[in-house]
Amino acid sequence: MPYAHITGWGMYVPKKVLTNDDLSKMVDTNDKWIRERTGIRERHIAAPGHSSSYLGVKASTEALKVANLAPSELDMIICATSTPDYLFPSTASIIQDKLGASKAGAFDLLAACTGFVYALNMGAQLIRSGSVKNVLVVGAETYSRYINWSDRSTCILFGDGAGAFVLRASDIPGGVMQSVLHSDGSGANMLSIPGGGSAHPTSELTVHAAMHYVQMNGSEVFRFATRVMAQSTIEVTKASGWKVEDLSLIIPHQANYRIIDSAARSLKLPIEKFMINVDRYGNTSAASIPIATVEAVQAGRLKPHDKVVFVGFGGGLTWGALSAEWSGALLPADNLRSGWYEPLARVRSIFLRVRRVVEGIFADRRS
Ligand code: ACO
Repeated sequence: MPYAHITGWGMYVPKKVLTNDDLSKMVDTNDKWIRERTGIRERHIAAPGHSSSYLGVKASTEALKVANLAPSELDMIICATSTPDYLFPSTASIIQDKLGASKAGAFDLLAACTGFVYALNMGAQLIRSGSVKNVLVVGAETYSRYINWSDRSTCILFGDGAGAFVLRASDIPGGVMQSVLHSDGSGANMLSIPGGGSAHPTSELTVHAAMHYVQMNGSEVFRFATRVMAQSTIEVTKASGWKVEDLSLIIPHQANYRIIDSAARSLKLPIEKFMINVDRYGNTSAASIPIATVEAVQAGRLKPHDKVVFVGFGGGLTWGALSAEWSGALLPADNLRSGWYEPLARVRSIFLRVRRVVEGIFADRRS
């Protein structure tokens, strides 16, 4: 059975920064309250016209560069998002087209903030089954589009961003080890965007009731999160045959500093064992774990052979954890990216688009 190694990683956050002081001019809040209750100082907000796929493509391009892999080598693209460009087509398909990943299949996966852990598991299982060799796993979110900017209990929490991993098949032991994935749909209404789906299709009524925005029972979600983060970390560590003390780093979903701190205390681990960057990005949902991973690598906190656990929780309710032996630059870069490929793929993508338009015009004339 092949192993699934993480051989590429990339992130992208929009340029525009929204600070706590900026928010205090929009709603009745202040920097001190936000920092003390959440640990967040600022978050990034996508420019008008820049949707989740735009951020996802930027992060994916970085990840492919690190992996030294051409988009044409990708077999599958999985995009974890709960803020997709559209209900359909999938954001993954749009990313696939923009990258020029001509032979890749593509689909979205929705497990809210746990999405990246679920998607990483799916990608690794595809590789282990032997059916694919190279998988791009993306977490891309634009929560700023689904936030009620007059609701101080939610608008302070979220930010936009994207992160991506390249998973690659290899006979060398290591890479993704074990995962535990959970769901408890009885808590569905604790955290949701209730309007716009088949339960409550968009209507004047749903818009008037602000049902197209994130709604959350903050204190219940907080209680749930502190319980499941430590639990699933222990579960996945045991399943891997490790002890929590063996872990070099835990990369948690970045929702609130106090949630991570509480998990650290439950696990009796120093807070330094956790990668934390919620202060600069807020909660970027499915993008938070890969963004934190990229910064951990850049800071030299994740090295080849390190034992790492990714752990998330979120709407659904869902939660889960995944263990991995960090591959870093261990694998030989034999899938060399050829410099001429990308421009060629772009030309092909434009050609296909033009052909679709021309065919559409002729089809209209015939009918
Ligand atoms: N500024 C100032 N005061 C505020 C603000 C604000 N932005 N928001 C709420 N308050 C007030 C409340 O009105 C309340 O006032 P009251 O006592 O007069 O009624 C008081 O502060 C305390 O409110 P709580 O909700 O009890 O505050 P808490 O300490 O629980 O912190 C928070 C709220 C930060 C939202 C916390 O509950 C939390 O982080 N929950 C988890 C949220 C989360 O992680 N969600 C994402 C999950 S991932 C996903 O899938 C999307």
